[in-house]
Parts: sequence; structure tokens; C-alpha cells
Amino acid sequence: MDSDEFVVDTPVVREFVADVRAAIESATSPEAACDAIRPGFARLLTDPEWLPERFQAPNPESGMGGGIGQWLLFRASDRSLTLFALVVPPGSETPIHDHLAWGLVGLYRGTQDEEVYAERDGGLELVDRRALEPGDFYALLPPRDDIHRVRTTSAETSVSIHLLTNDIGCVARHTWDPESGERLPFRSGYVNTDCQEDPSRASTVAPQLSVRRGREAVEFYKAAFGAAERHRVGGTRDNPEVVAELAVGDATFWVADESPEHANYSPETLGGGTVRMLLVVDDPDAAVERAKAAGAREVYPVAEEHGWRLGRVEDPFGHHWEVGRPLTR
Ligand SMILES: [Fe+2]
Repeated sequence: MDSDEFVVDTPVVREFVADVRAAIESATSPEAACDAIRPGFARLLTDPEWLPERFQAPNPESGMGGGIGQWLLFRASDRSLTLFALVVPPGSETPIHDHLAWGLVGLYRGTQDEEVYAERDGGLELVDRRALEPGDFYALLPPRDDIHRVRTTSAETSVSIHLLTNDIGCVARHTWDPESGERLPFRSGYVNTDCQEDPSRASTVAPQLSVRRGREAVEFYKAAFGAAERHRVGGTRDNPEVVAELAVGDATFWVADESPEHANYSPETLGGGTVRMLLVVDDPDAAVERAKAAGAREVYPVAEEHGWRLGRVEDPFGHHWEVGRPLTR
């Protein structure tokens, strides 16, 4: 992403964002920045004109449940600052969740009860409860007050405005089970914007597997893991040695004939591997069965262990693959 996203592109929002950036730049701490931003944030909460009606609507498809809508209003190009509206229909409440960023949160419309929690001794403890009226707001300064749940108490839908110093809808956060206190992975998303990563910013690392019989190996990985061939050099009758890039979903890896002269050795040459592949899939049982049908040897059957459902196979070229998924996925 090479530019700021002003979803609500009005002078009010542009001026507010410019003031926020100036405050962050000149402040010596998040607390000081919050203090500097307070007057402008208060004005936003009491201005009935600036937020279009469509960003005050619930979302029946909500990832948070209860028709809760999280509408992106502004996002900085480097995703270090977002402004969004959280819309909570009457009687609905958010899960207990964290934010992992500092900022300001305030009520624009309706009324809410907020419960603030803290993690203590591996469990969750309710540490504060407050009622919010339109115009009320507070600073989030993690870890202080970072874990909370809000519930709409008014007969009308509540709308709160959040200014946070991350891409809150897209970062990996957490919710908590209120009964067990168990912490679970959570990514809220936005109603009106996706979280696709910018490929030009993404860093990846992809292994290159050295094998004997490279052409055969490429065909095996296609059959065993449903890999797609993205790129290939060689593998012809005239030039039988192959280097190929394969992809399973978004995950890529390379396969190449071994070249001992370049210190790339296959497991068959070494009598063992120096890398173990971990393939994450939705259905490890089916994936392992498919790999076995294509010629892989089962090393460990699929079972649940350390929070994963996981099995292990050795492919016909000597590479070991753990195939599984985290139980929370
Ligand atoms: Fe929140």
C-alpha cells in the first residue's frame, strides 16, 4: 500500500489525522500524545455531522457476532494508525478482546457498559466496570486497560470511535473465553476493507529441497500435496536436471536435483535430511492419506499433540514432512 486510505475523505477527518500525526511526532510518550490528541478527539465525538450514516450501520455478517460492525474510516499507508467506528446493536456485546496498541476510544452514539479485564495467574480478572455516555472517552495504554468487552445498553445502536496506533482490524489479536479464561487467536477484520497483505512488503522464506530424480519428485509433490508448478527450469530430455518452484496454497518451496559440486546433497546421498518440512493444511488426515496414496511412507500417524493435529510422512526422496494444523485454526 503506497498511500493513506481516507475512507471518509473530508476536511474534518484530514485535519484530525494531520493533528494526530503532529501530536505523535512531537510527544515524548504515548501518554503525552494521547493528552495532545484529546481536544481534537473530543470535538470529533460531539460533532454530529462528520460520520456518514453508512458507517453507523450494524453488520449482519459480523466476524465478532451479534451484528457488530467495524468500519474503517482512515488507515495510514504504513498501517501504523487507524480510525474506525465500532457499531454494536442494542443488547449485543463484543467478545472479551485486546488491542495491542495505544490510542483513544470514545462513544459517539448510544450508551455502553464497558468491562475491563487483566490477565492474572493464567486467568482473567474483572478489574473495572464503567458506563459510557456519548462524548465519554478514554486512553488505551497497553497493557493498562487493553483487555475489555463492551455491551450496548441503549435502545439504539451504539457507535464508538477508535483511534489506534496499529491496523487493528488486520493484526493478530486475542479473545478470551469468559468461562474458562482461555485465550484464543482473533482477527476482527473490517466490514468495508480487506486485510490483504501488500506483496511488495511481504517477506518470505522458501526452502529448496535437494533430491535425486528431480523430475519424478516434482510430479510426486503435485500428486501428494496438490502442489501447483509455478516455475521450472530444465527437466527436459536435453537438460534433465530440474529446478522448480511449487506452491501449496500460498506456501511455496523449490525442488532441485542435487548438485554435490555446490554442496547441495539429497537425503538419499546423506543418509538423512537436514531439514524437516512443516505443511499446514485444514485437513491433515486427508492430506496424509493423499500423500501415502502417492507413495509417501507414514512415519507417525496423525494425532493430537502440543496443540496441533499432526502426522509425519517421509517422501520417496527422503524428505520428512509434518502435515498438520493448530487446533485453534
Ligand atoms: Fe475494543
